[in-house]
Amino acid sequence: MPGGRLVGIDRDGEALEIAKERLRRFGETNVLLVQGNFGELKAIFEKSNIERADGFLFDLGVSSMQFDKAERGFSFRYDAPLDMRMDKGAELTAEEMVNRYPEADLSRIIYEYGEERFSRRIAKAIVERREEDRIDTTAKLVDVIMRAVPYKGKHGRVHPATRTFQALRIAVNDELNVLGKALDDAIGLLSPSGAICVISYHSLEDRIVKNKFREAKANKILNILYKKPLTPEEGEIGENPRSRSAKLRAARRV
Ligand SMILES: C[S@@+](CC[C@H](N)C(=O)[O-])C[C@H]1O[C@@H](n2cnc3c(N)ncnc32)[C@H](O)[C@@H]1O
Repeated sequence: MPGGRLVGIDRDGEALEIAKERLRRFGETNVLLVQGNFGELKAIFEKSNIERADGFLFDLGVSSMQFDKAERGFSFRYDAPLDMRMDKGAELTAEEMVNRYPEADLSRIIYEYGEERFSRRIAKAIVERREEDRIDTTAKLVDVIMRAVPYKGKHGRVHPATRTFQALRIAVNDELNVLGKALDDAIGLLSPSGAICVISYHSLEDRIVKNKFREAKANKILNILYKKPLTPEEGEIGENPRSRSAKLRAARRV
């Protein structure tokens, strides 16, 4: 938009470096890139002297860059240190979580954030293994999971480590707690008629977005633009298989 201004926020400094290169041609006055957390949107706006936004686009979750960089520790497909932090300056890593958290907490995290039905077995196996050997790599964690999951859990469509890795990543980055706050802030900062669009990648996130939008509609703050979330068509999924789970919800400020 001519004369418009874009504020790009990511907690991952590496993502911002890439964005900076890509958006260089738009000049520094039109593009402001901030390393920060969506949960601190209001503070970020205040610090940058921005009062309102005409639109918000949230693209949630983990990026392909983060997944595909083995050393970030997000993927069970590569052997790497068990890290999973989106912000490399954050204190808590997946390694800390897996080696320190009580069994009951691990079990709850894996169940709630991974929707993993073998969460108790996996948490128990983690605690047993860490007493002998620190679980400090993705490969060690995959090994623990593979041994803990019974035969029927190993022959489904998804890799047996998928859900546990998703759960730990969500917990390490506190993704779900931050999201509610981020949406509240964004709705509060939106100009009249401004749009808010959110792309989420799993049902736990989508539920939070759906409920926040409904609440704002009931309070006559937002009009919801699509009753059902938009999802990619087959062609897009063919070109970009990772779009498979994406759901876009959009609303407009009254
Ligand atoms: C699906 S990726 C999208 C990245 C970007 N749109 C792109 O196409 O490359 C999600 C990005 O959001 C960032 N992110 C996730 N949760 C965040 C949060 N609470 N605060 C700030 N950034 C977050 C991640 O670090 C990641 O880079």
